[in-house]
Amino acid sequence: MTRGRFITFEGIDGAGKSTQIDVIESVLKARGIEVVRTREPGGTPLGEMIREKLLTVKMDPATETLLFFASRAEHIAQVIEPALARGAWVLSDRFTDATYAYQVGGRGFSAEKVEALEAWTHGNLQPDRTVLFDINPEEASKRLKGTRTLDRFEKENIEFFKRVRQAYLDRATQNPTRFFIVNSMRDKEQISDELRQEFTTWG
Ligand code: TYD
Repeated sequence: MTRGRFITFEGIDGAGKSTQIDVIESVLKARGIEVVRTREPGGTPLGEMIREKLLTVKMDPATETLLFFASRAEHIAQVIEPALARGAWVLSDRFTDATYAYQVGGRGFSAEKVEALEAWTHGNLQPDRTVLFDINPEEASKRLKGTRTLDRFEKENIEFFKRVRQAYLDRATQNPTRFFIVNSMRDKEQISDELRQEFTTWG
């Protein structure tokens, strides 16, 4: 059995990831591919419990980073690896790039410590493709307002999201073949068309 593909989706809150993941999921299913759609933090029963704490409880940045990796370790063991091994394609709404963007870029937590946790948790496993939805934080914040109650991360200020966005763009520069940057400041339909085109043939 050929191993599946691991595709991750990233971007600051309000970049419009979810709608576009739906589009990619249907393109891949139409190609006859088994798709496993999942998310971080979360993706497993224990991961969802950790998610609830991460989104609601104020905590030290070290605790926060460790909890993201705890959720990730469980996610890899229970969901991601088994799916890839049986040939399914995994679509994950966020993965380790989010820790570099939010905890290192946003909070100023140590990149070296995150690198060590990454190597320890999933050294050999990296996404095959990462779609980065790029948007300016002012626009993203306008889109988020009024939609629902904001969680602990979504309530951070514009300066925080500027750092997160820049950290994502830096990751993309460092990994140019893995990243596919989508300009999220356009019409939903335009973005869907671009992604349909890309994922009709990719992989
Ligand atoms: P997400 O599921 O994208 O939020 P929502 O369901 O509200 O669209 O992600 C939850 C939050 O967790 C998001 O604000 C980003 C943050 N996050 C980190 O700070 N570090 C991480 O490693 C991950 C995976 C997420």
